Amino acid sequence: MTSGHVSNVLLVGAGAIGRLHAREMRACTFCTLSGVVDPTPEGHAWADSIGVAWFPTLADALAWGRPDAAILATPNPTHRPLALDLIESGIVTLVEKPIASTLDDAQAIVDASQATAVPVLVGHHRRHNPIIRTAHDLIGQGRLGRIVSVAVLAMFRKPDDYFAATWRREAGGGPILINLIHEIDLVRHLYGEIVSVHAMSSNATRGFAVEDTASVLLRLDGGALVTIALSDCTAAPWSWDLQSGEIDSYPSPAAPVTTSVIAGSIGSLALPALDLWHYQKRQDWYEPLTRETTGYRKESPYVAQLRNLCAVARGTERPVVDAREGLLTLRATLAVTDSARSGTTITLSSSSNTPCEGS
Ligand SMILES: NC(=O)c1ccc[n+]([C@@H]2O[C@H](COP(=O)([O-])OP(=O)(O)OC[C@H]3O[C@@H](n4cnc5c(N)ncnc54)[C@H](O)[C@@H]3O)[C@@H](O)[C@H]2O)c1
Repeated sequence: MTSGHVSNVLLVGAGAIGRLHAREMRACTFCTLSGVVDPTPEGHAWADSIGVAWFPTLADALAWGRPDAAILATPNPTHRPLALDLIESGIVTLVEKPIASTLDDAQAIVDASQATAVPVLVGHHRRHNPIIRTAHDLIGQGRLGRIVSVAVLAMFRKPDDYFAATWRREAGGGPILINLIHEIDLVRHLYGEIVSVHAMSSNATRGFAVEDTASVLLRLDGGALVTIALSDCTAAPWSWDLQSGEIDSYPSPAAPVTTSVIAGSIGSLALPALDLWHYQKRQDWYEPLTRETTGYRKESPYVAQLRNLCAVARGTERPVVDAREGLLTLRATLAVTDSARSGTTITLSSSSNTPCEGS
């Protein structure tokens, strides 16, 4: 690692998101992808095609040399063992979201990171999006007053061939753990800690074992209420992924639509447009509301996340999303699944966010 440049980043897992990280690394000036770990012939061929060293296992890569940083982009159940190996080797690692598939696995990663003082970052990339950073600033400056009510729409259509992989039709492979987790992370980041969760889910449209739709109610520390409508089987544009422009593979929207409304006591905000609504004079529904749109400098959240990884590896920044944050977001997301299954409200203790009881 020369000053400023992180010259030796190891990518573990050459699948969909791993290749996106590789593309961003190869286009940026502040770090260099030096090796790829993936056991498959496809992974090997792809590493050869981009001219990067290939290793069938993480142990082989670590025997070859110690990277400055690593990105772990493998299936969720492998996060725990691979993350622990990387942490024990002292390597600052970005673990893709969810941090792990179970709370036990997530806790093991948090504990190892704390015990060794080796920082772990978790790939909740939306926190790095300049739209979210701006929303966070506006809320922090008190422009909305007290957050009262939030409504989030996450409605989109996954193509039929997406479900060719068996795991995507089974428990854990559905939109709660894959997509809703991003919304839950933003709720925690922007509006406050989640103290209770009530949810319903349905598989009535596709008929797979896994849910295709869910309705979620959250109570936040401080009293705000959040409603989230989620579905991956609707012909609909109301989705952060479709509207935010974060990922090139989705078409540009025919017309922009709002995916989150954050209503506060003195103002409200619509995302992703960053439209801020407020009264000029009295807080009174007979008065006209004014709309102000806040500008921001566009940047890929994946590049910003990579920049944070490199700065953490150089010791100049802390993780924007650390292992404990990843654990708390996973805990709240799993509570959605538990509530939908049991029909009960799940209470999360505000200090540790440990699920305590159904009520
Ligand atoms: N942040 C995001 O926007 C985002 C988007 C998609 C996926 N993800 C997360 O990224 C992770 C990977 O998802 P994906 O869609 O890229 O999956 P994928 O199935 O496309 O790719 C996973 C890759 O990991 C490889 N792999 C499996 N076991 C391995 C091991 N022991 N060592 C090295 N490589 C191994 C596989 O061969 C495959 O190439 C998951 O945790 C997922 O939740 C995050």
